[in-house]
Amino acid sequence: RVPIAVFLSGRGSNFAALAEAAEDPAYPARIVLVLSDKVDAKGLDLARAKGIATAAVARRDYDSRDAFDSALEAKVHEAGAQLICLAGFMRILGRPFVERWEGRMLNIHPSLLPAYRGLDTHARALADGVAEHGVTVHLVTPELDDGPALAQARVPVRPDDTPDTLAQRVLVEEHKLYPAALAAYLAG
Ligand code: GAR
Repeated sequence: RVPIAVFLSGRGSNFAALAEAAEDPAYPARIVLVLSDKVDAKGLDLARAKGIATAAVARRDYDSRDAFDSALEAKVHEAGAQLICLAGFMRILGRPFVERWEGRMLNIHPSLLPAYRGLDTHARALADGVAEHGVTVHLVTPELDDGPALAQARVPVRPDDTPDTLAQRVLVEEHKLYPAALAAYLAG
């Protein structure tokens, strides 16, 4: 079972979905660390409640992105993680860090990439009047939300959708897609 670190900044529902999958001894990964750049992230509380090691690393405590990234990486090494899953981690990692972890770092992004990289994906999809929206799990490369897709799930956009109702429909798919995509990736 591959030891993984989950990086998050907030709610942690995708972390919870991964953790639930990893409770099955047959699942190919186990979570050895939950790391957040926000000390008060709800996801850290969820991890503590599950008895998973946590770390909080605040960007403001470091002079540069490289120093911050090195602090993150030290925590990952300390925990013995061999793969990183970004799960609502809302900070851009520097190129050297990403290059060191290339092929060993996954992200979940709430759009059908390459559509809607960046923030506010649901509102932007609605503003464009698209019929379909969804979520992508991809490998992380130095360009934002640009790495090769490992898996996608689609949802219909309804005429009465708001960004919140659409986000909720996508989130249901996120929670299924991330554990499945990680397992498939590890299975080669
Ligand atoms: C999820 O919808 C995830 O796809 C998105 O943030 C949310 C985190 O929710 N990620 C991004 O926007 C990455 N740019 P969670 O904390 O409940 O998993």
